[in-house]
Amino acid sequence: MSNQVVVRDLCASDESAWRDLWAGYNRFYKASVPPEVTVRTWERLLDPATALFCRVAELDGRVIGFSNSVLHDGTWVIGKICYLEDLFVDSERRGNGVGRALIGDLVTLGRERGWARLYWHTARDNPARGLYDKFIGADDFVRYQMSL
Ligand SMILES: CC(C)(COP(=O)(O)OP(=O)(O)OC[C@H]1O[C@@H](n2cnc3c(N)ncnc32)[C@H](O)[C@@H]1OP(=O)(O)O)[C@@H](O)C(=O)NCCC(=O)NCCS
Repeated sequence: MSNQVVVRDLCASDESAWRDLWAGYNRFYKASVPPEVTVRTWERLLDPATALFCRVAELDGRVIGFSNSVLHDGTWVIGKICYLEDLFVDSERRGNGVGRALIGDLVTLGRERGWARLYWHTARDNPARGLYDKFIGADDFVRYQMSL
């Protein structure tokens, strides 16, 4: 890529680009998030009073990827714990270090802000593990999840 990728906070004027990427992320997971949930997610990502936040990757003035995360407390540490919930890069821009920059950005932010831990889940067979393993190896925990 010719120019430098910039990772920054989401802002209101990113709505159209974020929605396009969010739709791509939903397609990737064959998910159909109801429109009212997307509206609420967008509002909460922009609201500094909620635990959700989004960082976007911008190249040449275009938003081409995002990380959506949740900051929460924990019982084993004093500092905040960051759960990286969603990570996505425009399919036409992959393989150029944007995903790496988005995770690296959370590592840097977390160190600056005193977070205790950053974690994320993925499917066992997600090829993105080729990227994740460059940061840290997976542990041997398994996930139990109930819809309520
Ligand atoms: C995962 C994702 C965000 C990675 O973004 P990206 O910008 O392509 O990643 P990078 O270019 O920073 O990759 C860095 C390294 O990881 C490797 N890598 C990244 N994604 C990979 C993939 N899907 N398959 C194989 N290797 C991959 C690259 O080869 C690269 O290694 P290199 O620098 O030694 O060549 C992107 O592929 C994506 O949006 N995938 C669909 C959604 C998804 O899977 N999200 C994660 C859900 S948990």
